[in-house]
Amino acid sequence: MTALAIEGLGLTVGAGAVPLLDGVGVRVGAGETVGLVGESGSGKSLTARSALGMLPRGARATGRVTVAGTDVLAAGRRELRELRRTRVSMVFQDPRAAVNPVRRVGDYLTEGLRARGVPARAATERALDLLAQVGLRDPRGALRRYPHEFSGGMLQRVVIAGALATEPALLLADEPTTALDVTTQAEVVGLLKELQKAHGTGMLFVTHDLDLAAAICDRVYVMYAGRIVEEAPGAALFGAPAHPYTRALLEASPSVRGERAAVKAVRGRPRSLAEAPGGCAFRDRCPLAGDDCARAVPGTRRHGASLAACLRAGEEPR
Ligand SMILES: Nc1ncnc2c1ncn2[C@@H]1O[C@H](COP(=O)(O)OP(=O)(O)O)[C@@H](O)[C@H]1O
Ligand SMILES: [Mg+2]
Repeated sequence: MTALAIEGLGLTVGAGAVPLLDGVGVRVGAGETVGLVGESGSGKSLTARSALGMLPRGARATGRVTVAGTDVLAAGRRELRELRRTRVSMVFQDPRAAVNPVRRVGDYLTEGLRARGVPARAATERALDLLAQVGLRDPRGALRRYPHEFSGGMLQRVVIAGALATEPALLLADEPTTALDVTTQAEVVGLLKELQKAHGTGMLFVTHDLDLAAAICDRVYVMYAGRIVEEAPGAALFGAPAHPYTRALLEASPSVRGERAAVKAVRGRPRSLAEAPGGCAFRDRCPLAGDDCARAVPGTRRHGASLAACLRAGEEPR
């Protein structure tokens, strides 16, 4: 079954119908690792949160969001609560914001299972098993400890254990390692990927780091100003990015092939959909843009292994 299908998702907010997302399409198959990449403000978190039915206050949505068979935008409150408890889990940037600081880790890990009717003893056994899977050396001791007794990296492992406890169909990981130091980041990403595959959970991995996404994801969506501008297999992105924005992101990445080159930013400032120019939203920052790019939002075309929304897909800058 498809873990997540977002089709033609549009989002506006407020009386003025300020556009935030336009025609967003994202698919995550069962057990698939899918990246969602773009600069800050491009709409990644809005897209990911739509899978939980979490829309901004006063937002109007069009299109369709389906998670493991549930029509999320049409779901009632109770159905959404059930979905969040059993079928979708989320891991955020800051593990300290995800856990209750005054409750023991054991309670945090077992409450979701208890709510599903798993007996106390079995829930504890399951929590111990998960803590061992995420690499905690003393799982039994960890159950009795409080969040502040863990480092950020260790606490994020606890949160990941919690996210997998109910065997969700879909795991949303929104910048899950951004707050961690570099060595810990690599470990946590490796762990997430390994466990997600082992549990057969589909993962939407949200990050501003295209390199990282390309390295670990089966497929990657690149987002700009509230729209998907490219979709490609992770492996294809390094060699042959089709969209000029993807190319710019890749060149701006600090970690490309381990070089210690200075971080080169993408020229200009990222735009929200509301402030982006008409036609192709990237055209005012694009080295390849011509007058034709102003006429309409470019449709998607195939270029190599990519689908790219660009009239010049695959062309080299002059
Ligand atoms: N609740 C909201 N109301 C109005 N605008 C919002 C709201 N949430 C996000 N936005 C705007 O939508 C755009 C995309 O936000 P977001 O999805 O958080 O970006 P990203 O996660 O890619 O950094 C941003 O310009 C942001 O300011
Ligand atoms: Mg975000």
